[in-house]
Amino acid sequence: MQYFRYLPFFSLDSGLRRNDNKDREAVKNFYTALDRMPCNVTNQGMATESATNTIGVNPEGEWFGYKRTTPQKKTELVLDVFHSVARKYDLMNDLMSGGAHRLWKDRLIRMIRPRDTMKFLDVAGGTGDIAFRLHKATGGRAPITVCDINPSMLKVGEARAIDRGILHNLDWVEGNAEKLPFPDATFDVYTIAFGLRNVARIDNALKEACRVLKPGGRFFCLEFSHVDNPLLAKAYDAYSERVIPKIGKAVASDADSYQYLVESIRKFPRRANLGKRLVAAGFKGAKVSTLSFGIVAIHMAWK
Ligand SMILES: C[S@@+](CC[C@H](N)C(=O)[O-])C[C@H]1O[C@@H](n2cnc3c(N)ncnc32)[C@H](O)[C@@H]1O
Repeated sequence: MQYFRYLPFFSLDSGLRRNDNKDREAVKNFYTALDRMPCNVTNQGMATESATNTIGVNPEGEWFGYKRTTPQKKTELVLDVFHSVARKYDLMNDLMSGGAHRLWKDRLIRMIRPRDTMKFLDVAGGTGDIAFRLHKATGGRAPITVCDINPSMLKVGEARAIDRGILHNLDWVEGNAEKLPFPDATFDVYTIAFGLRNVARIDNALKEACRVLKPGGRFFCLEFSHVDNPLLAKAYDAYSERVIPKIGKAVASDADSYQYLVESIRKFPRRANLGKRLVAAGFKGAKVSTLSFGIVAIHMAWK
């Protein structure tokens, strides 16, 4: 299918067989390249011009799109964005991505290979797209918890669940990805789709993800990423800068929230950077798969 260009995983961490020198060499080279990546960090360890390559703890908390902020303020501003867009969120997703978000989400579910014996947590689950897919894939038999910081998004999600007749095995919980309201080692699978970009303290959220997963549990993050091909990147940048805020204004009467969306994508860490931070949060075997020329990536890791 034209939409997709599925690049093979590349390993960020172990998952290596003993004595597999070739793989070890590849991983060593990867880390060397990562350490040489340009990284704008001031003396205080705060992000400067770009957070995308910054190696530090929670640098994204200093930015709301292109505007300087604090982690607390960013959380409030993100809450405002999703209060404002909640009712039109699903329609806007279809319009902005030409329906591609559905294919990206389907791809995520196929990678998870859900089983009805597994316990799922979908963080920043919003209006339930991932939870509904997991519910369907497990025949409604697996317990699924949707956790989101924003009650307006959860309200839309719960109404959608009722419309679909999904009343069992689906819980809606208000909570912050940075401090999840669940005990240690509760879930087999943690998902976060188009949510991590909005979290102020990403490294805290990754640690929390690791904490609530059972040993051997898996982490999946579906998120906008960065287009590598310079020509395509130019076209994609032009589309996101000129078209997306206009659709936001016309459909949701809210150009600012969609301007934030565009800016937050640019500020999101590069794939290799996020991979290293997954390892720092306690995960193993971190891998990434790019979809649609790098517009989107799926990060996966094991506890
Ligand atoms: C772009 S929506 C994604 C919704 C859904 N996962 C999907 O793929 O359609 C981002 C969601 O992240 C939630 N969010 C933002 N910051 C969060 C945080 N710190 N903890 C939990 N959820 C958060 C927002 O409320 C919003 O519902």
